[in-house]
Amino acid sequence: MSKKIRFAGMLTVAVLFAGAMGFAQSGEATYKAKCQSCHGAEGTPNPGIAKMMGVKPANDAAVKAHSEAQMIAITTDGKGKMPAFKGKLTDAQIRDSVGYFRTFAK
Ligand code: HEC
Repeated sequence: MSKKIRFAGMLTVAVLFAGAMGFAQSGEATYKAKCQSCHGAEGTPNPGIAKMMGVKPANDAAVKAHSEAQMIAITTDGKGKMPAFKGKLTDAQIRDSVGYFRTFAK
């Protein structure tokens, strides 16, 4: 086995281990890294982005009408100008970042 392959294997094990141990990125960290640029730090997009992209604030009635499962589906597959996060984030990261987004939807 070449060194490179062995290193990749070790890395995979380390990542899986970190995930299993709960060291995976929290929903808040994922949201800040991947969602905040469009949805705003507290779920309210800045007015320019809101207008240009069609992002609504998290506490907008139309947004709150979505179930958690619908939001996870939108985040996974994308919608309108929102990119799909399938393959870019794990299912757990999508679920947790949606969970964090939903804390602003009150
Ligand atoms: C490039 C900008 C952009 C990024 C990054 C982005 N979104 Fe969105 N998001 C949008 C837009 C635009 C919509 C509205 C889509 C529509 O209804 O046409 C949207 C809609 C949504 C909705 C559905 C509720 C609604 O507003 O209609 C959820 C839930 C959501 N985003 C969650 C997330 C999460 C979680 C992330 C990070 C993993 C994320 N978004 C990253 C632009 C973005």
